[in-house]
Amino acid sequence: MREGKRIVMAKAKTQFVCRECGAVQTRWAGKCPDCGTWDALEESSFDASSLKDPQRGSAGTGWVEGKAGEVSMGAVAISEVVRSTGVTKRLGTGIDELDRVLGGEDGNRGLVPGSVILVGGEPGIGKSTLMLQAAGAWASPVKFNATKKDWTSTVLYVSSEESAEQIRLRAERLGVEDSDSLFVLADTNLARIVEQMRKVKPDVVVIDSIQMIYKADMDAAPGSVSQLRRCASELVYLAKSSGIAIVLVGHVTKEGSLAGPRLLEHLVDTVLYFEGDRSHAARLVRAIKNRFGTTLELGIFEMTGKGLAELPGGLSIASLTNGDEHRPGSVASAAMHGSRCVCVEIQALTATGFVGSAKRKSSGLDANRLAMIIAVLEQHAGLRLADRDVFTSSVGGLKVTEPASDLALALAIAGAHYKRSLPPTTLAIGEIGLGGELRPVAQLEQRLREAARLGFTHAMVPTVRRGELPRVKGIKVVAVKNVQGAIERLM
Ligand code: TYD
Ligand code: MG
Repeated sequence: MREGKRIVMAKAKTQFVCRECGAVQTRWAGKCPDCGTWDALEESSFDASSLKDPQRGSAGTGWVEGKAGEVSMGAVAISEVVRSTGVTKRLGTGIDELDRVLGGEDGNRGLVPGSVILVGGEPGIGKSTLMLQAAGAWASPVKFNATKKDWTSTVLYVSSEESAEQIRLRAERLGVEDSDSLFVLADTNLARIVEQMRKVKPDVVVIDSIQMIYKADMDAAPGSVSQLRRCASELVYLAKSSGIAIVLVGHVTKEGSLAGPRLLEHLVDTVLYFEGDRSHAARLVRAIKNRFGTTLELGIFEMTGKGLAELPGGLSIASLTNGDEHRPGSVASAAMHGSRCVCVEIQALTATGFVGSAKRKSSGLDANRLAMIIAVLEQHAGLRLADRDVFTSSVGGLKVTEPASDLALALAIAGAHYKRSLPPTTLAIGEIGLGGELRPVAQLEQRLREAARLGFTHAMVPTVRRGELPRVKGIKVVAVKNVQGAIERLM
């Protein structure tokens, strides 16, 4: 019955949009035919008038009266398209790890005026914290490179989840409460938000989060696919027509009870995702789409009592400067994250266990890889681990799944077992094969450069048959052939 009714409605003005992938279906189904997610299709009625002219809705908000018709000037030869001269001044935050991910050239990184970015991540990961820090930074004076004049952007921070007072409290923690150009608004109604935008005339608007924003003239409930899409597309149009940069914050929920930000990815210019583990301090910000920059950059932060602090040196810097003591069971490696190399510390601990039920636990590392490496150590390096519990982790909660960290993991386990350690300024890079042999890894030179920059002096790497090992200033490369060879050096 339910099925039948829906089909009839679909023939009228209804469509079904998948909450996960955004695919549009004409009829309801239990499972999305495109992405295969169960129970993700949501009924959504579409506005026939907006179909004829999708920009009408935004024009209706009154932001660009009379301008709607001017937006399209018809087809033009590409050579005749007028391009504004000079460089677009980007809105930098001075938070280098964020600006770099946003893109741009040296001295001109950050948000492009009139662009829309989407910041996604699990609840509690730090989206609001970072965006409020960024809002505070945008709203404080910065030197305009070209003219040497001070430049302050007006920022409107719209919170649909917290009250103005709560934002103020957070701002005090973050040290950004002292600003006359940072405006806060606690509202969820799109029309009222646009009204306030007209009053405040901001350069940047942060909407935290887009999922709670609704348009009153739509039947759909706030948080539904239709509301989300409609509100987001109106904001995108508004950004393009007014030159205001808009940041949309969206939660990614595992349960999918709210429409996912993935629906919005195609609408916006840049998509940033927050990664990390809530129980660890490290937070990674990565661009997965960027019309104004590369998607290869990675920003590394640490959650502190005063918000997110930058970790420009990657994660191992803290443990590196921890002193030069030798720590058995702790070996550094260099892992690639996109184009960026991050040095990580891999730790292992072995403890007395029972044969047949010895524990093998890993946090931030691949459990299958761990099992394989334990087997290789037993078979090819003579370690007896059958009655030892083995615990391993990557320090700081940064996930390391790259095979290039195998050698460091093997050395950490062997080090913990024999109570031996490498000098703290030595790192190990290499993939381990089932025969105990070390395999070369990609981008070795880049890894060594990053390691040298952080102050490592020696690197254990796999031998290469043909060609030379990369030479990087400041770091001595020690080539080893197999796991036994590496463990001999450890002893
Ligand atoms: P939040 O930015 O609210 O996460 P999101 O907007 O992604 O849901 O904050 C996440 C967590 O960070 C929260 O549990 C509290 C913590 N936190 C700090 O540790 N230090 C701080 O200065 C702030 C503001 C938050
Ligand atoms: Mg939040």
